[in-house]
Amino acid sequence: TRFHRLGGSGLTVSALGLGCMSFSGVYGACEDADGAAVIKAALDAGINFLDTADIYGWGHNETLVGAAIAGRRDEVVLATKFGHVRGPGGEIRVNGRPDYVFKACDASLTRLKADHIDLYYQHRVDPQVPIDETVDAMAELIAKGKVRAIGLSEAKPETIRRAHRIHPLAAVQMEYSLLYRAEAEEVLATTRELGVAFVAYSPLGRGLLGGAIRSAADVAGDRRGEHPRFAPENFSHNRRLAERVAAMAEAKGCTTAQLALAFLMSQGEDVTPIPGTTKTSRLFENIGALAVKLDAGELEELSTMIPNNAAAGERYPEAALKNAYL
Ligand code: ATR
Repeated sequence: TRFHRLGGSGLTVSALGLGCMSFSGVYGACEDADGAAVIKAALDAGINFLDTADIYGWGHNETLVGAAIAGRRDEVVLATKFGHVRGPGGEIRVNGRPDYVFKACDASLTRLKADHIDLYYQHRVDPQVPIDETVDAMAELIAKGKVRAIGLSEAKPETIRRAHRIHPLAAVQMEYSLLYRAEAEEVLATTRELGVAFVAYSPLGRGLLGGAIRSAADVAGDRRGEHPRFAPENFSHNRRLAERVAAMAEAKGCTTAQLALAFLMSQGEDVTPIPGTTKTSRLFENIGALAVKLDAGELEELSTMIPNNAAAGERYPEAALKNAYL
């Protein structure tokens, strides 16, 4: 595994992280024991960057991650996120108020059985609360020793700049994959200018770039069934895009997922993909992407083969889209 510094922070992360969301059944059922086994295998393989959030399984995911890393906390760069709350009707809202930030952090620490969080992200920007106030509260968590570094997720360049002026951000997390580059590239230009790290979530297009999803029906039973990119009217188009990557991967002698991850890692040391998988075999496959080298010509070929806005359908259902990229 290669390692690099996370932005201007003191954290050193592996070039590939592990997204833990799917251990909470978001993309189909997953036994806790299987999730824990993937986490342990990742640590054994030198992957030290674990990504969770309080909303994943509403606490379930943090509890699982905390238990899986018990006794190995010092090996881990532990990232979690706050911001999502349930409204009275069960709808998801965003809360960036300082008092809530403090409360959410304590709750996460309890579930994680940790005395500090290495990287604490605001999961979604709260349009009702000036970002300065939220980031001020996050900075206070650093001062208190509860958090080592802070970041934002799904934030626009202007929000990132404002936040970074209040307290340096270590990282910004955005959806970024061969199937989704438009806003990610906008953000990357900004984070790079500021010396902030870029963490790429859904680097496999929620599985589309893994090659295992053959029809919209394959994901109809999980959260992806609500995602426009998997809607029957968009799926076959997006699947055809993924097949182009599969063809190039085959010619190169690696897997589709490896090529998709290598494309992201080749953008620069500041880009860290955090693919998720519930299977150790795929974890090892994804780690194999570290050995896939792409030259400038191949990178060009990939970005030409899937132009910037080529994927069909929005990347979130309508309600969630309103909270993204603010
Ligand atoms: P997210 O960040 O939203 O979790 P992602 O990392 O882009 O999304 O993709 C995660 C999905 O890709 C998971 O559904 C995972 O399925 P499994 O849990 O069944 O493995 C799938 N996935 C991960 N690595 C894969 C690989 N190497 N080949 C095929 N599918 C893979």
